[in-house]
Amino acid sequence: MTAKQSVFSELPVDLSRDRLPKHVAVIMDGNGRWAKQRGLPRIMGHRRGVDALKDLLRCCKDWGIEALTAYAFSTENWGRPLEEVDFLMTLFERVLRQELREMQAENVKIRFAGNLAALPASLQAEIERSMEETRNNTGTQFTVATNYGGRQEIVQACRAIAQKVQQGQLQPDDIDEALFERYLYTAGDRDPDLLIRTSGEMRISNFLLWQVAYSELYVTDTLWPDFDRSEFHQALCSYQKRDRRFGKVS
Ligand code: FPP
Repeated sequence: MTAKQSVFSELPVDLSRDRLPKHVAVIMDGNGRWAKQRGLPRIMGHRRGVDALKDLLRCCKDWGIEALTAYAFSTENWGRPLEEVDFLMTLFERVLRQELREMQAENVKIRFAGNLAALPASLQAEIERSMEETRNNTGTQFTVATNYGGRQEIVQACRAIAQKVQQGQLQPDDIDEALFERYLYTAGDRDPDLLIRTSGEMRISNFLLWQVAYSELYVTDTLWPDFDRSEFHQALCSYQKRDRRFGKVS
């Protein structure tokens, strides 16, 4: 643990425990720029990005935040140079293998959201194993959006519902928001209360399109590998100042 982390090992006193977000989602942007600024290959940014993610997950546990969802690989990311895609797939697999024991020790329940069938078979096997082995854990729920696209998720839900209608197992009138939600990768999960995006870009980038309908947004210029507990603290301070009205009058 670095000196900076140890200062933040407990919930900072200016945050109210009762008003913490229960579910935080992160768009981890800026790994490539972080590396470029240092004259390093882009993959070094992804490596450091893993360290930032690991500490954020641990911080959620330390501060009592129930769920963390991270956007690791989008359906659009296949368009990156082949070497970078290959590197990321290998990185995910290696991190899962190396961190499983630690996640068990910390009672983390890991889940994945996305079209997993299109991932390399060895990564799919590691994903299955990590979900199976942490299935009964009761601590932080950690969802990794991998080969995830919000539009693709909605389309696959529509297709599954249409098949049920065609087979006579559902009537069109049965389809409401609660039913639709059960066909998403995130079925049964609470929607994110707070969505954080690093590196300054003001967009959603096809992430959790349905689920972020009423999430509070927080964008920081900090690049993902530099996103540490003090940055997270600032995001939570901003969140606690928000008046969440959900379209109603406060
Ligand atoms: C975006 O930065 C980052 C990614 C597409 C990859 C994020 C993945 C990790 C941090 C690894 C997570 C690991 C596990 C096991 C979940 P960018 O490359 O788009 O940065 P740029 O916009 O500066 O080019």
